[in-house]
Amino acid sequence: MRVLVVGGGGREHALTWKLCQSARVSQVFVAPGNAGTAAEPKASNIEIGAEDIAKLLEFAKQEKIDLTLVGPEAALVAGIVDQFDDQRLPIFGPVAATARLEGSKAFAKQFMQKHGIPTAGYGVFSDYTEARDYIESRPAPMVVKADGLAAGKGVIIAQDHAQAIDTAQQMLSGERFGDAGRSIVVEDFIEGEEASFICMVDGQNVLSMATSQDHKKRDVGDAGPNTGGMGAYSPAPIVDEALHQRILEKIIYPTVHGFAEQGSPYIGFLYAGVMIDAQADPHVLEFNCRFGDPEAQPILMRMQSDLAELCLAALDRQLDQHTIQWDTRTALGVVLAAGGYPLDACEKGAPIQGLSRSLETPTRKVFHAGTREGNGEVVTNGGRVLCATALGDTVREAQQHAYDLVKKISWPQMFYRTDIGYRAIDDHR
Ligand code: GLY
Repeated sequence: MRVLVVGGGGREHALTWKLCQSARVSQVFVAPGNAGTAAEPKASNIEIGAEDIAKLLEFAKQEKIDLTLVGPEAALVAGIVDQFDDQRLPIFGPVAATARLEGSKAFAKQFMQKHGIPTAGYGVFSDYTEARDYIESRPAPMVVKADGLAAGKGVIIAQDHAQAIDTAQQMLSGERFGDAGRSIVVEDFIEGEEASFICMVDGQNVLSMATSQDHKKRDVGDAGPNTGGMGAYSPAPIVDEALHQRILEKIIYPTVHGFAEQGSPYIGFLYAGVMIDAQADPHVLEFNCRFGDPEAQPILMRMQSDLAELCLAALDRQLDQHTIQWDTRTALGVVLAAGGYPLDACEKGAPIQGLSRSLETPTRKVFHAGTREGNGEVVTNGGRVLCATALGDTVREAQQHAYDLVKKISWPQMFYRTDIGYRAIDDHR
């Protein structure tokens, strides 16, 4: 089977690595990929951007691709699945009508309200005066979100009314996030602990991924600006069996059934970012229409089942015939980022020292994200550069092994959080 993976980040390296382990997969093409995907056995990068749907379609037709997996959201929201479906090219992901769940925060809130899915109170605005009046009527802190896609940066937690009003003004004027911010969602802030709930959906049936949590803040102790994620681990001890069931019943199934009822069945990875409050009740913070990054790295390191087979089963609407086997150990990934991330432009082209296949064992893996090959060496090529991931019998052991990997790698201006996994370590709770 010939597989195409769309994207070039850490999640796509993890997907590629996992797909290469399948006896059914003969070749994996990654568009555009990174230095890590290029080095996987069976895999090669192709020079097509992750959002260039026309070229991806042409490539898939020419190369007779049997299965396409899409990592990032932009192509999904832009309708890559609709276009592949039209050409009868197998692709695992949601069509544009369902990918709106991530593509429009206002749509997601209205969908949740319609289907009784627990989420914070909110208002949707395109008019500044109405937004300001609403903000003044709600308690701070509160959350202001750009309606459209904003590369993971469109969610601002405002500590007071003045900051919320300022943020709303900047978004609505187009000054911040361009057209993506011309409509906004203003949402009540929910206290609690956040977890990622990711599953595969075939339109009707759901197969849950192992539980996970990521660290969205840049700095130690979950401080500083939001990022795409500075590290993640699986399982997430906060999501016990009872909570797992509650999330399925209150959030995942109503979402899947809601789309089925409206005639656009959800097929693909579905990611609910949930806030678990003091009563252990889950509330949806956001939906993503794709796998998480960096959650994919530790989750896929624990997956013992054949990912390609699961995707094909989903396309045949047969996920109910499958289960997923998981390594019972903990996997933990630490993101190595380039100076400036996530606020400023990051230096690209810095040679990375210490990367070597000899670092890697069946329980330790360095997934690449913003890297490329340059003059025979691996150089930086983005904000999140690598994710050092390891398995361990305990969270502490997985953490130790991941940081052992981290300490062998360096480039000028590299930085990382030193506390990934702290919430899951027993003595903290
Ligand atoms: N780790 C958060 C995300 O994938 O959006």
